Amino acid sequence: MEPEAQTQVGTATSSDERGKIAAIRAEMPATQKYAYFNTGTNGPLPRRSHEAMSDYARRELEDGRISPESFPRLMGCLASGRVAMAGVLGCDPAEIALTHNTTEGMNIALMGLDWHPGDEVVTATTEHAGGLYPVYLLRQRYGVKIRMTEIGLKDRDPVEELHRVLSPRTKAVVLSHVSWATGMALPMRELADLAHSVGALLICDAAQSCGMTPSNVYTLGVDAYACSGQKWLCGPDGTGALFVPRRRWGDIQQTFIAYWGVQHGMSDFEGHYVPPANASRYETATLYPAGLHALTTSLRWIGEELGWEWVYRRIATLGRYCYDALATLDGVTLFTPADHMAGLVHFAVEGIPPADLVKKLLAENIIIRDTPSPVANRVATGFYNTEEEIDRLVAAIRQIMSQQSI
Ligand SMILES: Cc1ncc(COP(=O)(O)O)c(C=O)c1O
Repeated sequence: MEPEAQTQVGTATSSDERGKIAAIRAEMPATQKYAYFNTGTNGPLPRRSHEAMSDYARRELEDGRISPESFPRLMGCLASGRVAMAGVLGCDPAEIALTHNTTEGMNIALMGLDWHPGDEVVTATTEHAGGLYPVYLLRQRYGVKIRMTEIGLKDRDPVEELHRVLSPRTKAVVLSHVSWATGMALPMRELADLAHSVGALLICDAAQSCGMTPSNVYTLGVDAYACSGQKWLCGPDGTGALFVPRRRWGDIQQTFIAYWGVQHGMSDFEGHYVPPANASRYETATLYPAGLHALTTSLRWIGEELGWEWVYRRIATLGRYCYDALATLDGVTLFTPADHMAGLVHFAVEGIPPADLVKKLLAENIIIRDTPSPVANRVATGFYNTEEEIDRLVAAIRQIMSQQSI
């Protein structure tokens, strides 16, 4: 496996940077209440996004939802959401379908392929249900053969693993850019090139990568990239996006069709229609506009005021700081590969079940989570976290370990 082109990990925090981080934390109240290390599940909301959401909802209450301005406002909101997501992914906004979450995007992409019994799909035991269950559905519905791998585990070379199971019958490879189970950042470009060499598509689960690590979808070479708004992008629940490159609109068909799935005026009552010349053809339903407006507000704040490069560097720096700090503790096993990681650190503490550790740390106002396979704890380092919080986390774990051994 080639070393992944990763975000440069920075050095010590400068005083300018401290000021910036303090301002960010003032904007995200949840980060002041807790040492908040679970953006991999749900990121903290910025105040301005909450305000954008409640302003939108208030206007609907006061003006009604069918006032003359409502429809243009909704159209504007959808268009800005697609532009904002395209900005994060470095693609054309026409290649973005708005979704409610990653799982929806994975279903749209996978169900859109033309499956036949005996076709093969490659995935991994480390995948999240959001990508794995649609694969199971392919087996149930179409008799597709699942080729399971252990891509994403620390001691497996993902490229070799994929090479081993690919065949001329492989139609899709379903993998996460960053594993929710181990924190491993996969070499997506290499994997996508390999999938393409047998004519398969790389359908990528981006729930943990989008907003955590550089996600230029053209560079990654993926054929679908399904994102969550509520995690590293710090938007509300019920928001997300699916990137499908223009070159794949013929391979990934519409499975669901909604209002934006037919070009205006281009259908007849015999059922003929022309889809629009953009990825909104894949959208299953209109998003709650107040929520989408809040996501766009978060993305503008991060992109225009904080800077994505800075955010990615900060997340990777803290991830590495956390990894190194945990590695100093005797009795801690790390599941994350140090040379292929960004903002997730997975570890287990000898003698302490992960769910118990989560509870004990919560009592100290420190939020982490446990993950099922491998059974572990997971720390997600957000751009708003600090080295001091990580020190506090590690000190608390040390303390819990010492009480355990009494
Ligand atoms: C890798 C991965 N995929 C999918 C999901 C599901 O995300 P969503 O709720 O946005 O569908 C998660 C959530 O934790 C995840 O970590």
